[in-house]
Amino acid sequence: MTPLAGSPNTPLEPPERHSTRQRTVSPSGQAARKSARIIGTGSYLPEKVLTNSDLEKMVDTSDEWITTRTGIKERRIASPEEPTSSLATEAARRAIEDAGIAAEEIQLIIMATFTGDVLMPATACLVQKNLGATRAAAFDLSAACTGFIYGLSVAKQFVLSGFYDTVLVVAAEKLSCVTDWTDRNTCVLFGDGAGAAVVSSQGEGPRIIGEYLASDGSIYELLILPGGGSLHPPTHQTVDQGLHFLKMSGREVFKHAVTCMVDGAQKLITQHNLSPQDIRLLVPHQANKRIISEVGKRLGIPAERIYVNIERYGNMSAATTSVGMDEAFRSNQFNPGDKILLVAFGGGFTWGSVLLEW
Ligand code: COA
Repeated sequence: MTPLAGSPNTPLEPPERHSTRQRTVSPSGQAARKSARIIGTGSYLPEKVLTNSDLEKMVDTSDEWITTRTGIKERRIASPEEPTSSLATEAARRAIEDAGIAAEEIQLIIMATFTGDVLMPATACLVQKNLGATRAAAFDLSAACTGFIYGLSVAKQFVLSGFYDTVLVVAAEKLSCVTDWTDRNTCVLFGDGAGAAVVSSQGEGPRIIGEYLASDGSIYELLILPGGGSLHPPTHQTVDQGLHFLKMSGREVFKHAVTCMVDGAQKLITQHNLSPQDIRLLVPHQANKRIISEVGKRLGIPAERIYVNIERYGNMSAATTSVGMDEAFRSNQFNPGDKILLVAFGGGFTWGSVLLEW
């Protein structure tokens, strides 16, 4: 097996972009509508790197604490000229190029984010404009860190129903805009980035063979961005109170994160009559390396079959699983039949998983 790029203790540069996926149409010219495949992926990370030692100068923390408690060494921060739509557009361009299609062939853009450029319109519409995807409908989807999983699932339903052939799913976050840079409990955890996937009934690539989505709104307050909406419309007071920043009950979130991700992964493993040994690669949401290790332990999936890049990017919310999947596709050799399991959890609470077959 090819060693995993970005696995624990192997910090590597993002792998070179190379695509082995070819677009194909059946001899009759008719595409089979029986499956939804990921025919192209792409990701984009802003250039600026913020290291743990940089953070030592900003808040009362240390590289040692951050590394041992979270596994994070550095994260990317977008420039003021790069709103979320820019990150998303670049990731989407790469995914479209990888798929070997034209932007005009995209019929729907689903954008997973909670840090859109503006509250209205949907950032998906700005991405549609930037890409020149003139035939695409576009909407944003709000499922926090589980957004990419939810997005892939929605895309699959559209494709399988035959309503659309080709759907772009983009997950992008500029979390640096909603991070309180004076709060050491949260500011060390997050970063900016974007990932994208083209889901289509035509072409080659791993098939989406299963998905599981869940939510539990009763614990919504554990992870919340309280200000700016209709409950706390922006005022001087809400800004003074820092309600426009992410709030988190770290320890509680940690416990639920482990339970939810194990649940999400196990549901699909069981539903598809698989055992943990059948999972060629687990691509989990990356919020804390200790969460990932615990999930792997409970599932019985060893570290060498879990994709980890948290040391380079921190938690990029919905973008995390999409970037992880793109990098994992580029740095691994997969064989026909290999199963890849994506799993995530996040604010809501939401959680879920997607099972791919190469
Ligand atoms: N540097 C140094 N010390 C820090 C620190 C930092 N950046 N952040 C917190 N601490 C301190 C706390 O103040 C606390 O000190 P005290 O004992 O004197 O009160 C101590 O470290 C332990 O805090 P605790 O919250 O128990 O640490 P932890 O081991 O639970 O780790 C998190 C904190 C946030 C890293 C961890 O709980 C976590 O990852 N939670 C899940 C986060 C997550 O998944 N969020 C996103 C969901 S999508």
